[in-house]
Amino acid sequence: MSEPSGSVHSIPTALVFAFSVVLFAPTIVDANEARALRFARHGELLASRSLSWMRAVSAPTAVRVFEPYEEDEVVFEAVSLETILDAVYTPSWRDRPDLLFVFRCSDGYEPTVPVGRALEHRAWLAFARERSGPAPSGQTGFTIYKLESGERKLIPLAPFYLIWDNLDDELLRAEGDYGWPYQLVGIDLARAEDRFPRMVPPATTSLYALEGFAAFRVHCSRCHAIAGEGGTIGPDLHAPVNITRVRSREWLQRWIADPSQILPTSRMPRFQRKVPTPSRVIDQIIAYLSALAERDPAAPAEPNLDAH
Ligand code: HEC
Repeated sequence: MSEPSGSVHSIPTALVFAFSVVLFAPTIVDANEARALRFARHGELLASRSLSWMRAVSAPTAVRVFEPYEEDEVVFEAVSLETILDAVYTPSWRDRPDLLFVFRCSDGYEPTVPVGRALEHRAWLAFARERSGPAPSGQTGFTIYKLESGERKLIPLAPFYLIWDNLDDELLRAEGDYGWPYQLVGIDLARAEDRFPRMVPPATTSLYALEGFAAFRVHCSRCHAIAGEGGTIGPDLHAPVNITRVRSREWLQRWIADPSQILPTSRMPRFQRKVPTPSRVIDQIIAYLSALAERDPAAPAEPNLDAH
């Protein structure tokens, strides 16, 4: 390698490189190239797309949302999720409301959202936060102050944060932080039966109970598992015994609506106040849980436990 007879020739190349990274890394262009999302279909990698590529495909837009972790209105700079999905998967993803998106976050968290939600509501991939005036307590950059048991915790959002146009959308507002993954590094278009084979109700399930399954995914599965699939904060609602075999429909209605009415020390939150027809949605969730019990009739029936 021929050394140029310039002024830096005595400095080792690696050091020059390190210097230029320090000098130029903060410019937008370099940061955009480094930031990328990996897109997959049924677990197989399709493409990795940089922020620069996304900005060329979908014009960056200032999007004002009600940010569910900070619980305040926030403006983000973002590209349209739909437009990016059309470019990566071709618009055929729109014909598959039976599929779901698995969002992969850098800490290993993998929330899912049905494809239908991205068709019914507008989602955006945010890559920067707009701030007017000084940020509270030195908070800067692409971060939020998440409200967690009464305390504020600073959360970095990069590389991407999935946000929803929820300012005029009561239903989305009622669903809280469901479907708002931050530190997003990848998106997989997947089949529910591959992802949650035991959580998916049988093919013969009524539409009523299928809506209950969708509602269960929104409101319950982050805390409750079905036969080991789902959250672990609350008990598994299907294994070893399906909950509808040990609790009556009336008890479940009352419990899910507001557990504190039955058990004042319950750690389970009352059902979302803003859902328009809460008792109908709760009944649909119970119908879904009953459909699972019918699918696995071998599960033993236990004595009724309704007296808490
Ligand atoms: C934030 C976590 C959380 C969410 C969300 C949640 N639960 Fe719970 N749930 C719990 C915990 C924890 C318990 C255990 C009892 C307690 O501490 O209240 C529980 C208990 C239950 C029980 C009683 C089990 C028994 O045998 O006593 C049922 C039924 C239940 N949850 C259903 C649901 C349904 C249906 C949803 C969605 C509408 C839901 N839960 C949402 C945390 C949660």
